[in-house]
Amino acid sequence: HSLKTFNTFGIDANAREFTIVENITELIDLVKQTPKNDFFILGGGSNILLTKDIDKLVIQLNLKGISIIEESDNFVIVEAMAGEVWHEFVQFTLKNNFGGLENLSLIPGNVGTSPMQNIGAYGIEIKDSFYSCKALNLETFEIETFYNDACKFGYRESVFKNEMKGKYIILSVQFKLTKENHKLHIDYGAIKQELEKMQITNPTIQDVSKAVIQIRESKLPNPKEIGNSGSFFKNPVITKTQFEALLETNPNAPHYSVSENEIKIPAGWLIEQAGFKGERFGDAGVHKNQALVLVNYGNATGSEILAVAHQIQTKVNELFKINIIPEVNII
Ligand code: EPU
Repeated sequence: HSLKTFNTFGIDANAREFTIVENITELIDLVKQTPKNDFFILGGGSNILLTKDIDKLVIQLNLKGISIIEESDNFVIVEAMAGEVWHEFVQFTLKNNFGGLENLSLIPGNVGTSPMQNIGAYGIEIKDSFYSCKALNLETFEIETFYNDACKFGYRESVFKNEMKGKYIILSVQFKLTKENHKLHIDYGAIKQELEKMQITNPTIQDVSKAVIQIRESKLPNPKEIGNSGSFFKNPVITKTQFEALLETNPNAPHYSVSENEIKIPAGWLIEQAGFKGERFGDAGVHKNQALVLVNYGNATGSEILAVAHQIQTKVNELFKINIIPEVNII
């Protein structure tokens, strides 16, 4: 069964068997029957690079539903099932005037995978409004609740990518969102400029979402047109000493301070300096507007894209002595 339409990179890898699961009972039955290392859970397929066929039963989680589970004058807790498309869920919250997720508009993928890597954009991460998630324990088949702290969120990190990897399936996520006095985050990147262009002086959460959508559409390729998985690498965090060395040769290097001794460097900048922006190697390439995004122009294989990634890592290391590591899950 081809997985080409089930991963946003558009890689034509095969699954030995493939099934779409629409409810939790069906899911539990299926994983109880299947040996643990013989199935593979697929969400929106927006953060994986398939470099080979998957010799397993691939289960695409298509659990749907959005509901309000708690409400006060100021806050609401909204639950979305794992198979809800992230952007559609964000649109639902904005239609209801619930604040907190507007900066995360248009991020590809499904709700269920959003906590895994603590998705983030424009100064916000889901950890900022994440309340809890429900996850199926694959040893006991019990459904457990993980509150925010238990997820150990970090920059594109969580417990589900680390110590709990492969041990749980996230079934739903609950977010605590504002009903009024929304706190806007418009200081990051070009949001303010975009709002000015739209001639908006008193932005609402819906305006912020529109600005974010404008910016993303201008920079990031639409996976429906050119296969990609968003940022391929994480932005590296380096020490102050490393940063000072970098400044000697690159006095204008863009950077963000993370802590007193840690500085984050945009990997897109490093890759552009290394000469890869817009480069194409067969059907694999580096996007022309955002060097952090690797793309599949049509028929690239996962290995071809991975080879480009390795070439980039080597060159960036040679030039800057900085290691950049993939954000995307390489299968
Ligand atoms: N830059 C370049 N050349 C490029 C790209 C970027 O020089 O080709 C430099 C510029 O100085 C630019 C800076 O990098 O100002 C930052 O670029 P951008 O604002 O596009 O953000 P990013 O650091 O490249 C991160 C996230 C994105 C998220 C944006 C906006 C990571 C790995 N990526 O990218 O997330 O949308 O910030 O908040 O942290 C994703 O994870 O898939 C993703 C798209």
